[in-house]
Amino acid sequence: MSPVSFKLIIFLACFSISSSVPFNRVLLDFDIAKLISSGQKEGKSLICTACQVIVKGIRFLIEQEAPEEVLDDFFSKTCISMQMEIPHICNALPKVFGKEAYYVIANAVITPEDVCGGLISDCGTVDNPMNDNWTIPIPGNKPAIQPWPTPTQPKSTLRVLHLSDIHIDRNYTIGTEASCAGDALHLFGLCCRNYPSSKEAKDSIKQPAGRWGTVANCDIPFELFENTLQHISATEKNLDYIVITGDMEAHDPWDYTRDKTTSNIANITATLLRYFPNTPIYEAIGNHEGVPEDAFAPHSLPASIYEEQGPGWIYDALATNWGHWLPPTTQSQIQYRGSYSFKPYPELKIISLNTIYCAKFNLYLYVNQTDPDDTLQWLIGELLASEKAGEKVHIISHIPPGDVYCLKAWSHNYFDIVYRFENTIAGQFFGHTHTDQFEVYYENSDPNGRPFHFNWISPSVTTVGYLQPSYRVYTIDGNYPGSSWTVLDAETYSTNVTDANLKGTDPVWTLEYNTRQAYGMPDLSPASWNDLIKRFQADDTLFTNYVRYYGRDDHRLPCNAACKTSFLCGMKQGKSYEQATFCAGL
Ligand SMILES: *[C@@H]1O[C@H](CO)[C@@H](O)[C@H](O)[C@H]1NC(C)=O
Ligand SMILES: *[C@@H]1O[C@H](CO)[C@@H](O)[C@H](O)[C@H]1NC(C)=O
Ligand SMILES: *[C@@H]1O[C@H](CO)[C@@H](O)[C@H](O)[C@H]1NC(C)=O
Ligand SMILES: *[C@@H]1O[C@H](CO)[C@@H](O)[C@H](O)[C@H]1NC(C)=O
Ligand SMILES: *[C@@H]1O[C@H](CO)[C@@H](O)[C@H](O)[C@H]1NC(C)=O
Repeated sequence: MSPVSFKLIIFLACFSISSSVPFNRVLLDFDIAKLISSGQKEGKSLICTACQVIVKGIRFLIEQEAPEEVLDDFFSKTCISMQMEIPHICNALPKVFGKEAYYVIANAVITPEDVCGGLISDCGTVDNPMNDNWTIPIPGNKPAIQPWPTPTQPKSTLRVLHLSDIHIDRNYTIGTEASCAGDALHLFGLCCRNYPSSKEAKDSIKQPAGRWGTVANCDIPFELFENTLQHISATEKNLDYIVITGDMEAHDPWDYTRDKTTSNIANITATLLRYFPNTPIYEAIGNHEGVPEDAFAPHSLPASIYEEQGPGWIYDALATNWGHWLPPTTQSQIQYRGSYSFKPYPELKIISLNTIYCAKFNLYLYVNQTDPDDTLQWLIGELLASEKAGEKVHIISHIPPGDVYCLKAWSHNYFDIVYRFENTIAGQFFGHTHTDQFEVYYENSDPNGRPFHFNWISPSVTTVGYLQPSYRVYTIDGNYPGSSWTVLDAETYSTNVTDANLKGTDPVWTLEYNTRQAYGMPDLSPASWNDLIKRFQADDTLFTNYVRYYGRDDHRLPCNAACKTSFLCGMKQGKSYEQATFCAGL
């Protein structure tokens, strides 16, 4: 740390400002991810210090009624002098996030002593806003619990493709540095691109970005996305429908604009239509569809703020794009809250749920996080109607509610809703984490109790997070009268782009594994997933396979006892911030 920034901290510390709120979720988001992977102690204290300096400084400037340009300037200068990122990113960040962050800093009802502590581990207390405990009334008269259906001779089945986290980088440039984030200061949020005025451009390249994408901190070039669709359209001739669970844009939120996002999405829609002209596609919104990222202001904000900063523009764009495959009744639902429901088959309802209203980096939630835009209330209404009609429901969504990315109160309410409607919900399909995972729900939050549901968490198409591109295909029981609509079989496919780049060939896609075969599961019921967790505990070889599939290669192996516990713990959390409850005894 330079002497200049040290003085700045002392200077700011002199103002005893009692409350603060988070400033920049992107920076924190990225650095948290990097800290976890690198485990570098000095990085930890740097980002923590930076967060506190910036939050306190901005707060002070707002109290002084400084104009936005001054706030922007303060942020950029601090960011540059603390070497938090390259100047291009430091300068771009406040232009994208400023309006949201300043509004929230000025209006947040919470007064946490240390919100940086809420967002960064080991950076003060983890208090508000995670512990807000609003609850939603759950309707009574839960019907008698039906055993999970496991049809062995279904009259007919459907074949359904699940794509998640596509993240196309339109600035991906072959031959640029893929290992750009490797230094101690964790500069550069995203690699494999030509940053203006970057010193890397002049230095020698350690790992050049390959033609088909690079397993590094890089998103994918358009060509890999196109190759993925080309391959699937050639090998899966009988897809009944496709589910896509969000996140189309690159991980460069400092450069997000509404125009770039809408044209990216329009291009993806056009490309999907080109390769799958006759297959319906049902999508859910991701946190990267926000500009700024994650910023989805609810209608409870003043109308003028909602008009200017709210997500209406993206909801309109998605309503248009998704409208190719959906009935007109979904348009107003998408335009209002970015969620929708409809029935593709007489006995199946699909609910596309906007989980960005639980994202802890949706800063607007720190002004009011109670059921934003009545999304859970709406979900209950939809489930109740389906229960009465004897239909089954699939929920497709981006953020798995068991993940700590999802605020605690929203997640806990969602868990209770799934429990209330366990007979009606036949499947839950998520993405967001990029890794290949699942989460089991336990009755009464007892980790030894009855497992009543589970989340599919599908692996990403993007390579960000050091992952090979993947997709999944389900075999689903349906569409005949009385079908259970449960998933009977799942196959996960991936390709090794490192190999294709090396050999100068096209990517070769292969079946990575069939879930039931790989894990020896008789069916895909919550009880079988729970049994699998138990078998993982006892069988290291089986567990090692899970770790391999989780990251599509061996880079997380060997996984020692603590590592294993944390994996098992993740599988048992159907709701967030309940590690102590669900992981007791592991
Ligand atoms: C929510 O938290 C407040 C303050 O900690 C507490 O008084 C209240 O009883 C809690 N309510 C519920 C429903 O848990
Ligand atoms: C990305 O591409 C656009 C258009 O070609 C260009 O203006 C911009 O500078 C590029 N950004 C980066 C970070 O490479
Ligand atoms: C989508 O973008 C790619 C890359 O820029 C371009 O080659 C392609 O023609 C576009 N596709 C459509 C259908 O607009
Ligand atoms: C917060 O939002 C909820 C749901 O929209 C609303 O009922 C409540 O009145 C809002 N609270 C405040 C303090 O604005
Ligand atoms: C991918 O290909 C590279 C280069 O051939 C190889 O070193 C690596 O082991 C492969 N990864 C997997 C998971 O097969």
